[in-house]
Amino acid sequence: MFKTQFVSFLFFVFFSRQMESFEQWSLGLMPIQRPEMYIIGAQPLCSQLSGLSQGQRKLCQLYQDHMTYIGDGAKTGIKECQYQFRQRRWNCSTVDNTSVFGRVMHIGSRETAFTYAISAAGVVNAISRACREGELSTCGCSRAARPRDLPRDWLWGGCGDNVHYGYRFAREFVDAREREKNYPRGSPEHARTLMNLHNNEAGRQAVYNLANVACKCHGVSGSCSLKTCWLQLADFRRVGEFLKEKYASAAAMRIGRKGKLELEDKRFNTPTAEDLVYIDPSPDYCLRNETTGSLGTQGRLCNKTSEGMDGCELMCCGRGYDQFKTYKHERCHCKFHWCCYVKCKRCTSLVDQFVCK
Ligand SMILES: *[C@@H]1O[C@H](CO)[C@@H](O)[C@H](O)[C@H]1NC(C)=O
Ligand SMILES: *[C@@H]1O[C@H](CO)[C@@H](O)[C@H](O)[C@H]1NC(C)=O
Ligand SMILES: *[C@@H]1O[C@H](CO)[C@@H](O)[C@H](O)[C@H]1NC(C)=O
Ligand SMILES: *[C@@H]1O[C@H](CO)[C@@H](O)[C@H](O)[C@H]1NC(C)=O
Repeated sequence: MFKTQFVSFLFFVFFSRQMESFEQWSLGLMPIQRPEMYIIGAQPLCSQLSGLSQGQRKLCQLYQDHMTYIGDGAKTGIKECQYQFRQRRWNCSTVDNTSVFGRVMHIGSRETAFTYAISAAGVVNAISRACREGELSTCGCSRAARPRDLPRDWLWGGCGDNVHYGYRFAREFVDAREREKNYPRGSPEHARTLMNLHNNEAGRQAVYNLANVACKCHGVSGSCSLKTCWLQLADFRRVGEFLKEKYASAAAMRIGRKGKLELEDKRFNTPTAEDLVYIDPSPDYCLRNETTGSLGTQGRLCNKTSEGMDGCELMCCGRGYDQFKTYKHERCHCKFHWCCYVKCKRCTSLVDQFVCK
């Protein structure tokens, strides 16, 4: 069954207002046979999805079978965002429950940059894999060329993740809503559109560039005399870590006279397509504020001995914390048994927990 509710929040992620013109959805994608059949069949689904932009609705009609993977991909992105930021004041959740990201998206902050990038990355990831698994009518295994440095006697051509297709499809779909906008060149809204496009691309490139060659041995009794290799997506955790580093080094930009984003401080290096960019400073996320989409840190767990962002001092923004005791269950006294399993006991201990005031 199709998860309408769930997908509809995704389109909030790539949120926008209404769009005027949309001309460029002539895709560089493989043509599909008899698109009109899809269009007829797709009407109910695509019109049910709230939050699609006009161009995305057209893509939905043409590529109906992609929609569930787009949704899954965005969900993976959001989960990864919450994992990467679990020990930060901003933990990738917000006040507005109509979407996971909610109102924080109204500010063009570093955090917003990250959410766009990781969502776009999630979509590339999911579509690329779905191609390999034969779930989509318009793509199949990767047809990437054999890497030059692959040893000559290794075979190339296992069924690989189709990151090429995933990248291109995500570019068409995710960026559609930004490209439809027609804001005056140089306006704040135009700056925000450029920011979103840049960060979407950074997210896609992260998945594309981190994909690597994987190989499998064949041959008599594990001799590995023969290898078959293919293109494989990186573990999405690695994509999350990579983008988190890009978050830390994100570049502050402003809209320049020529209507392009330019560095706020020219002493820094110009960001590449792989880097994240932002245009607004972040709130401190200490207190709840509906306008900025900050949930505040009251009630958050913190670590009394840590000096990092998860430490009580920083997490609670100097407001102090409450201490309480709680039971913690864990595996303990593990023994390795020949052969081959590990047997553990379950231990319970009383531990201190700290919660921000
Ligand atoms: C959002 O929260 C409001 C109030 O708590 C609730 O009535 C509404 O059903 C929630 N919406 C969603 C989509 O969870
Ligand atoms: C919320 O944030 C906005 C923008 O930073 C600020 O102007 C406003 O005073 C804040 N509101 C509260 C209740 O703190
Ligand atoms: C994020 O923090 C809020 C409180 O600030 C909390 O309610 C929420 O459960 C946290 N979300 C996650 C995914 O940890
Ligand atoms: C708290 O932080 C300290 C120092 O960084 C670390 O060694 C410890 O494992 C952390 N405790 C928890 C419960 O995360």
